[in-house]
Amino acid sequence: MILTSKGFDSEKTVEYGNKFLTGNGRIGYRGTLDEMTREHCVGVNIAGLYDGVAGKWRETVNAFNPFYLRLYVNGKQLTAWCDSVIDHTQSLDIGCGVFERKTVFDVGGGKLELVSKRFCSMANRKVLASRLTLRCETNINAELVAGIDTDIWELNGPHFANVSKESKDNVLFAHGITQENGTAVDVVCEFSRLPDKVADDFAHFAVHLEAGQVYVLDRIAQVLIGGEQSLFDLNFDNEYTKNVDKWRELWHKSDVELAGEGIEQAQFALRYSIYQLLILAPERDCSIAARGLSGQTYKGAVFWDTEMFLLPFYIKTDPNVAKRLVEYRIRTLNGALAKAQSYGYKGAFYAWESQDGIDACSDFNVTDVFTHRPVRTYFKDKQIHISADIALAIIRYFEQTGDEQLLLCGGLETLLQIGLFYYGYSYFNHIKKRYELLDVLGPDEYHERVNNNAYTNYMAYHCVKRTTELCDILSGKYPDEINAVLDSFGPNFCDTLRNWADKLYLPKCNENGVMEQFDGYFKLEDATVEDVRGRLVNPREYWGGTTGVATATRVIKQADVVMLAVTLPQYFSTEQIEANYKFYMPYTEHGSSLSFCAYALAACKSGHSEDAWKWFLQSAEIDLAGGGKQWAGDVYIGGTHPAASGGAWMVATQGFTQCRPTFLHKVKVHGYDN
Ligand code: BGC
Repeated sequence: MILTSKGFDSEKTVEYGNKFLTGNGRIGYRGTLDEMTREHCVGVNIAGLYDGVAGKWRETVNAFNPFYLRLYVNGKQLTAWCDSVIDHTQSLDIGCGVFERKTVFDVGGGKLELVSKRFCSMANRKVLASRLTLRCETNINAELVAGIDTDIWELNGPHFANVSKESKDNVLFAHGITQENGTAVDVVCEFSRLPDKVADDFAHFAVHLEAGQVYVLDRIAQVLIGGEQSLFDLNFDNEYTKNVDKWRELWHKSDVELAGEGIEQAQFALRYSIYQLLILAPERDCSIAARGLSGQTYKGAVFWDTEMFLLPFYIKTDPNVAKRLVEYRIRTLNGALAKAQSYGYKGAFYAWESQDGIDACSDFNVTDVFTHRPVRTYFKDKQIHISADIALAIIRYFEQTGDEQLLLCGGLETLLQIGLFYYGYSYFNHIKKRYELLDVLGPDEYHERVNNNAYTNYMAYHCVKRTTELCDILSGKYPDEINAVLDSFGPNFCDTLRNWADKLYLPKCNENGVMEQFDGYFKLEDATVEDVRGRLVNPREYWGGTTGVATATRVIKQADVVMLAVTLPQYFSTEQIEANYKFYMPYTEHGSSLSFCAYALAACKSGHSEDAWKWFLQSAEIDLAGGGKQWAGDVYIGGTHPAASGGAWMVATQGFTQCRPTFLHKVKVHGYDN
């Protein structure tokens, strides 16, 4: 299970940083090379630690890089891009999360081979380990300069104040304090050899190599957050073994085996997707950012991606991780209550881009590429489906694990607060005698401030209805606890919610089986994605908002009604799923990587298994192929695409287990319970 790339291409540095990412749920180390620096986007991203600098976007923090290293021979620095390179390969073993680079240099009369491996330990999450070996055909003298690079890549930094460095024997330390909350981040790096000298905070090693001899330098680093204690007596071999053992356990409960003809590449892509999900599973109280641990894009914030695209994998493979993700939302309920209140509503309106529960989404989230002025966007104010996505996550987690304690310890209260929000947000149309959800954004973000988005209305209906049912079920078993929760909502609150749900407008499919995405969508210009793409003046321009090329047309950013049809298929017949799948296809840009898997699932549900396979590959291969948008207006949005990885897993386990293309003979799904 090894991903390999031969040759060095400087154009691919950022892409490979994502593709060869290693991680352990706490730290993500981008797939960059030892000699690279901030200009190559080296990143040691910390999960769930946020910092904000005045006037800039708040985002996750990157730690100092413990594995920075320069190699000199005869005074010349050898890098992967210097003219002495004969051969360069880099690989990632997704079976155990080990990154390796091998570079062969011509050092005048002989070849010098540098091999450097590293991993973020899954067994000891504070630990990152690296082993460097040098071997040369001739005798040489070289110098290694290794140290903790504190001049790090940051999108909206600098996030550290009071940076200091120290050294003692074979250990280097770097210390910083985050600007906003004063959280200490310490990076410790221990070398397996005593340096010849430490100068300018870097350890210098003189290397005298006889022909054929091997020189080894191990580095064991620890990233300590908020004053955590460091571990002692660590060595590379032990950490390596423990890490491999842990990964073996992880694969045992998470693998999905495909059997069939010509499916090897797809099998690898699926396992690579699972690898991405495994390296993101949080080990402490936080959730998963939309770009995972690949950097600070999207402010390191948590979106609906986690609940709708990632959670199903964790529920099946590791319910403790699933619980941590759901608990993150329960814990951040206060942020959702405050957000609702700030708009004049009661109940829980969750953050569109959640950090510590506070919405990190700005009112001006896109920059116009022509005027360079910020564009007013409504993702934060109007994408109210986020609360229902979270409610569905709690409901699904409960339904699949039976964990009543989660509902009793905040889960039910969260569901009720979400119900209260929708109840208050809705408008009762006295003429049509129904509740409506007006002025919203659905998953398709290109059409802002629309009325009765089908996805939003159905999701709200389903979750509120199910909340009242759960109240009834649990009341019988835990009357005191449930009454205590319900009391704070006033008398007969469940009846109020039930009545509301019964009167909420749920758009129906038309005579062709198609559901209108929102009121008036069918009246928009019947232009396809290609038509609209042809109207772009600048390739980076934003398609949505008030003046975007898609706004007045039927072109949508991502699956919307189709997303609804695969999320809540019980409200659609098979024929209707197929009709919506076909209708919306030419209008869907797939401008978000979340979209492909919804189309794949819809194709499976309507018997188009070979089409489903194509959509599935788009989802599974996105980070292997280096796909996905890099820019939204002038804002960098590159990084890995965890939701697409989770989506690929959903298609394999929920789609292809029901409807397979002929060449796919079998799908075997592993889980924690088998
Ligand atoms: C998509 C959202 C998604 C976000 C983070 C946006 O481009 O439209 O649906 O949640 O990216 O992945």
